[in-house]
Amino acid sequence: KQYRIAVIPGDGIGKEVMPEGLRVLEAAAKKHGVAVHFDHFDFSSWDYYEKHGQMMPDDWKEKIGKHDAIYFRAVGWPAKIPDHVSLWGSLIKFRREFDQYVNLRPVRLMPGVPSPLANRKPGDIDFWVVRENTEGEYSSVGGRMFPDTDREFVTQQTVMTRTGVDRILKFAFELAQSRPKKHLTSATKSNGISITMPYWDERVEAMAKKFPGVKWDKYHIDILTANFVLHPDWFDVVVGSNLFGDILSDLGPACTGTIGIAPSGNINPEGDFPSVFEPVHGSAPDIAGQGIANPIGMIWSGAMMFEHLGEKEAGKSIFDAIERTLAERTLRTKDLGGNADTTACGKAVAEMVE
Ligand code: NAI
Ligand code: MG
Repeated sequence: KQYRIAVIPGDGIGKEVMPEGLRVLEAAAKKHGVAVHFDHFDFSSWDYYEKHGQMMPDDWKEKIGKHDAIYFRAVGWPAKIPDHVSLWGSLIKFRREFDQYVNLRPVRLMPGVPSPLANRKPGDIDFWVVRENTEGEYSSVGGRMFPDTDREFVTQQTVMTRTGVDRILKFAFELAQSRPKKHLTSATKSNGISITMPYWDERVEAMAKKFPGVKWDKYHIDILTANFVLHPDWFDVVVGSNLFGDILSDLGPACTGTIGIAPSGNINPEGDFPSVFEPVHGSAPDIAGQGIANPIGMIWSGAMMFEHLGEKEAGKSIFDAIERTLAERTLRTKDLGGNADTTACGKAVAEMVE
């Protein structure tokens, strides 16, 4: 089978880290005999908006909806265009229209990357955050009445559907079952949020019955954030609603050092639509054009993409190459205290793969 990947570099350092991601994907594909074809698209960027007055062409879904995956980076150029316009005009459309209901982020302390937490070494922090990506607190049900008066009234409803809650829990339990520790933690707040969160807890309990091999526990979100910092070694798979998952999936990677290496997947597990793989960082206007951005987040997202496509060995060889490159201090970018540029770092990982 030949995989077709849609490539969208977007804005700012996206254009600098994308070539390094592709370099490493090509090296791994060659080594493991994976046939892959890349189609490049210039939309979902400020440059495209400047020419066309919109973030994407009207037929964007036809253009990228049949690909096996989308390899994406950084939309946003706040000096030229407000962030809600660029994000809602592209990335959020992908997530909703392609029903990417899982947002998946690894939290892993890598060799050679200092953790902001005291006394932590690689191996101590190694878990996944699984975020519900389509409903929950981020709904459009609500409104504002009597604006600019004393009677002003604003409301926004959390939406939880049985289908929506069960499918994210099933994904998280399956992931937990596939890991050596077989442990799942659920983020809740059923003491304060007294309708939706008890429902979430109920569905967790029901799903747990179908996975007798998985040990599970739950924490209220407030103490859970504290435990991410105090006891990151307690966690294996952590599942949360859209808002809680959003918070945890920034906090987790922050506990493991630089944002420049963190990857993520927006996944449609059934494969009815393509999934999007992208680093966690944005377009970084403050360093764009200097060639110093860390390409590891982009490269690691590529490893996740290969794993998702079922090319486990190609994915693993990229991941191993990242670990070895980070351990070798000479090949690190500025955000990690080194002086390698983006290309040198990307080439080093590609050579490790070969
Ligand atoms: P940012 O992630 O672009 O930058 C935050 C800080 O981290 C900056 O100091 C930057 O230099 C540094 N940084 C980020 N990536 C790095 C890398 N690979 N290597 C070294 N240093 C790196 O976040 P910010 O500044 O809040 O957002 C900039 C733009 O990116 C905005 O328009 C925002 O909306 C957009 N954005 C887009 C995302 C997406 O497409 N999913 C995600 C996050 C932000
Ligand atoms: Mg977020």
